[in-house]
Amino acid sequence: MEKLFTPFKLGAYQLSHRIVMPPLTRMRANVDGVLSPLTATYYSQRATEGGLIIAEATQISQQGQGYPQVPGIYNNDQIAGWKTVTDAVKEKGSIFFLQLYHVGRISHSSFQKEGVLPVAPSAIKPTGNAFTSSWKREPYERPRALEIAEIHQIVNDFRKAAENAKQAGFHGIEIHAANGYLLQQFLEDKTNQRDDLYGGTIENRSRILFEILDAVTEVFPSNCVGVRLSPFNDIGDMADSNPEKLYSYIISQLAERELSYLHLIEPQVRSGLVEEMNHEAPASVATLFRPLFPGALIISGGFDAETGEQALEDGKADLVAFGRAFIANPDLPKRIELGVSLNVLDKPTVYGGDERGYTDYPSMEQL
Ligand SMILES: Cc1cc2nc3c(=O)[nH]c(=O)nc-3n(C[C@H](O)[C@H](O)[C@H](O)COP(=O)(O)O)c2cc1C
Repeated sequence: MEKLFTPFKLGAYQLSHRIVMPPLTRMRANVDGVLSPLTATYYSQRATEGGLIIAEATQISQQGQGYPQVPGIYNNDQIAGWKTVTDAVKEKGSIFFLQLYHVGRISHSSFQKEGVLPVAPSAIKPTGNAFTSSWKREPYERPRALEIAEIHQIVNDFRKAAENAKQAGFHGIEIHAANGYLLQQFLEDKTNQRDDLYGGTIENRSRILFEILDAVTEVFPSNCVGVRLSPFNDIGDMADSNPEKLYSYIISQLAERELSYLHLIEPQVRSGLVEEMNHEAPASVATLFRPLFPGALIISGGFDAETGEQALEDGKADLVAFGRAFIANPDLPKRIELGVSLNVLDKPTVYGGDERGYTDYPSMEQL
């Protein structure tokens, strides 16, 4: 596992190994999106000296919420909750980024102020079921198309959330433009049928992403800002008529911005949440798009120690993220280094609940 343990300079920070903990939603905040000390314990257990952790998707506004008990970063209590988490992780010497998102049409009116409809680039309803604020599953509602002024407000909400993330003590942020949420809804033409500055051409559809990057890089330097994309991924009822052309444009533009990293999700395994494979998608988006992005590339999606090492060996990426394995193995990097077998994920305790399936997975010493 030589490559996985080769140090790497990631933008402003020095990493001691290349095993990344990617964002993993666990739905254990309180109903106001405020985290408890249990979350500090959870992340601190997974923190290693010089390792990179990207904290779970966190909404930039109440409008951006789409799941019960997920954290926010738009008010003082939420910032204070996150501060206890960043303190615990930094104490262990880890580099800690926060993933910022707005779910767009994946929300439900039960999360919205005064129960209004969720918003999206266009009023197109996804297939499938939303979560409600009371943990029920109900069919998605038809969202309301955003007005231009509201798009500007969302860009501002991302800026403010970046300021709050900085205040909460994060080393950097990741902009979530993947997995079927608001920014991917703007990027792809199945969900964006606007005919104004934010729809139509590829340049117009990606405008909001670049406006957000302009805004947040006034808060964090660009080498402390990453972007997550999931090209060819159909999660959240997404599709584009020409994903290769779309993402080639976006990734080439990102390449000019000297970002901390680009984080790609391999489409074959979707987001890790859906069991069946996406056989329609190319075998590897990292292989497809790597030539367009000379900066640091993180890949995620179905990797284990061997395939992760091989991906680095082949020059497919610079860092490998391990999602489900990190949930079940608080000491994952150590186990990979020593070739020790892994704990198995307990699916019923992934979302919501208490310390069970959260902070009680044993480390090697506890077995
Ligand atoms: C329980 C769970 C929660 C997730 N939450 C997020 C999230 O908040 N943000 C995100 O970008 N991806 C999320 N993902 C996707 C993971 O970051 C990762 O890309 C995926 O699990 C595939 O990697 P794996 O095969 O190593 O698990 C989640 C996946 C799982 C299983």
